[in-house]
Amino acid sequence: MKAGIEAISFYTSHYFFDLKNLAEERQTPVDKFYHGIGQEKMAAPPPDEDVVTLAANAAYQVIQKVDAEKIDTVIFATESGIDQSKSAGIYVHSMLGLSRNCRVLEVKQACYSAAAGIQLALPYLLLHPDRKVLLVAADIARYGLGSAGEPTQGAGAVAMVLSSQPKIIAFDQETGIYTEDVMDFWRPNYREEAFVDGKFSIKMYLKSLYEAWQQYTDRSGSRFDDFYRFCYHLPFSRMGEKAHFHLAKHIGREDFSEEYLLGQINETLQYIKIIGNTYAASMYIGLMALLENSAQDLAGKKIGFFSYGSGCVGEFFSGQVLPGYQQYLLAEQHRAFLQNRTELNYEEYKKFYLYSIPQDGGEYLTPRNKTGLFRFAGLKEHKRIYQKLESDSAR
Ligand code: CAA
Repeated sequence: MKAGIEAISFYTSHYFFDLKNLAEERQTPVDKFYHGIGQEKMAAPPPDEDVVTLAANAAYQVIQKVDAEKIDTVIFATESGIDQSKSAGIYVHSMLGLSRNCRVLEVKQACYSAAAGIQLALPYLLLHPDRKVLLVAADIARYGLGSAGEPTQGAGAVAMVLSSQPKIIAFDQETGIYTEDVMDFWRPNYREEAFVDGKFSIKMYLKSLYEAWQQYTDRSGSRFDDFYRFCYHLPFSRMGEKAHFHLAKHIGREDFSEEYLLGQINETLQYIKIIGNTYAASMYIGLMALLENSAQDLAGKKIGFFSYGSGCVGEFFSGQVLPGYQQYLLAEQHRAFLQNRTELNYEEYKKFYLYSIPQDGGEYLTPRNKTGLFRFAGLKEHKRIYQKLESDSAR
């Protein structure tokens, strides 16, 4: 028996900002963004969207596809949490009306945390094959205005139901892990934006990939040629290319052409290019881009996953695509959502970016914008208020 993904979906902001406008504003050649880092657009969350609403809007779609009564664990993976104590997962659990006989927790290790959620859930599901785990990963990637990281911002969430009756991906047991105490990217509690040593973060990503791969192959006996496609953590789409070329080079597979290697990752980059970084959610948005856009039937194919979280932890793991997976995807819905988003001009982008919620304990209502079914409505006595709407603007 194998455990894996029974249902999966993503959600992002209804608003985006095109990087050609950022290039103009920052007097940078647009090619640096479009080609140098491989990003075209970035999702920009309005004031009434936060990690809870991003996650709830993604999760609402997946719980319709499964027997939700069987979900007895909710894991919320994020590095943009909204409370130092209460798990963001409790809000999501409540908004979705899940069973109260449920454990709910939040996990954090930069962009790696969702992979940790998967690895913790799998043995639990094999031990309890009648139960299901809802894993949500949601983040708002935020860097300083005018900083090198600014074009790699984004926002989004992934929700997946993991179970011992997977319909989309069945995960293998062996993984390879690498951890090292480094300061490549971090966000102290008093900061809204991350500090990042960009070049060093790329170096640590690549080092962790190689080290994790070595342990994975030693433990599993799998080889590069066993894989059909690779899904990488994607802070920006060119990072996927850098990672894949680095891996091929360092394991001595320089015989593969650039074209062949790009073919192993290209489909995974499609959504991230127009959404931006979503930290913990990004690798799984890459997985959905692959499954939903591949011209080939991927059933039976082996997929490699590399999750990297600054600080740092990297893990390489693998899984097989299951026969008939296509009928469990939300491909049309996702494509339509991305096509129908609203474009922001620079002033509108900056207004969303600069909006901050008051901290005086008063009663505040957030301005109404386009959101999914759930929105962050405001604050009262330091308590966050969420609202369920009659319909999702995307439907
Ligand atoms: N036309 C085409 N390409 C151009 C160009 C032009 N006019 N100008 C520059 N470029 C290319 C550069 O040659 C470079 O390509 P290579 O990487 O192949 O050398 C690329 O564009 C980027 O240029 P720079 O290196 O000069 O870019 P930068 O210094 O402004 O910053 C960055 C790039 C470090 C990624 C920055 O955006 C950043 O700090 N981002 C946030 C950190 C991050 O994403 N790190 C990734 C690893 S850590 C991680 O994965 C965790 C996470 O999610 C944060």
